Amino acid sequence: MTPPTGTGRVLLFASRRGPAHAAPRALANRFAARSRARGRALTTVGNLAALSDSGSERADAMTQGIWAKAFPMSMVFSNADFESYKLAAERSLPFYERHLPKGARILNLGCGPGVSWIPLSLHGYRVVGIDNDLKVVEAAQKNAKTFGGDCQVISGDVFDVVELVGPDSFDACDSGGLLEHFDREQVRMLVRQQLLVAPLVMATMPVRTEATLRTYEVRAEAAEGHVDTHGIYRNFWDERTWVVDILEGFRVVEHFVERAPPPIGEFDELTVVIGRARAR
Ligand SMILES: C[S@@+](CC[C@H](N)C(=O)[O-])C[C@H]1O[C@@H](n2cnc3c(N)ncnc32)[C@H](O)[C@@H]1O
Repeated sequence: MTPPTGTGRVLLFASRRGPAHAAPRALANRFAARSRARGRALTTVGNLAALSDSGSERADAMTQGIWAKAFPMSMVFSNADFESYKLAAERSLPFYERHLPKGARILNLGCGPGVSWIPLSLHGYRVVGIDNDLKVVEAAQKNAKTFGGDCQVISGDVFDVVELVGPDSFDACDSGGLLEHFDREQVRMLVRQQLLVAPLVMATMPVRTEATLRTYEVRAEAAEGHVDTHGIYRNFWDERTWVVDILEGFRVVEHFVERAPPPIGEFDELTVVIGRARAR
């Protein structure tokens, strides 16, 4: 996997409630102030505050624009697309309701165009998505504006999540199809960062089963560290490897495997919920 160089960052906000920028102004101001303090360039293009960060050294799964080509679905949703995503999300509502009260603030990391979390914003949850692919962020912003409830989209790198949104700023961090794109140490680092932002971390990712490998067209021997035809790096670990090895030492409060809902694909997904360690 080739580390990206000089990742540009853009802050974009979308909300159905009131004009763009109204709701998340405090967040934007905080990010801008921090960036000025670090001597990074901040420019405003229309209603985009573009922040260049040429000093980014961290390797990650991203290259700008890759995801726009890799997503099997259209990035900007049609009404029919969104109806099917809403139905799929309804299946996971009891899971969210089990862990979070209505009105809870959820940060969705690697938010993509919004398949799973924009529907959630229609069920009383306040959701903010973060992604670092500008094309994806723009699509998510459009989708959030057209279909979302209380939701916003921020551009940024998930490894910077604590400085982007601040510690203890959400009730849960959530992700779908993100963690498998990093190696074991990076996954642990990302979970630690999320636990600083919220007391609960929820994550869903493809899990290694015959159906998953068949759908992704991956040979069993190549399931760890697989790079697909779009250049996207992914690990297909089984449930035990995730829960016992990779998440060793974390307080895993729930985990289960189920088939992804129809619009998402014919593969099996692992869901894990991780809580902060109990005070002794
Ligand atoms: C499989 S997609 C997620 C789809 C999403 N769950 C949805 O509901 O639409 C993974 C996303 O993670 C994003 N991503 C990967 N690495 C990232 C990083 N370091 N920081 C922020 N986003 C990242 C990609 O741009 C991509 O949009």
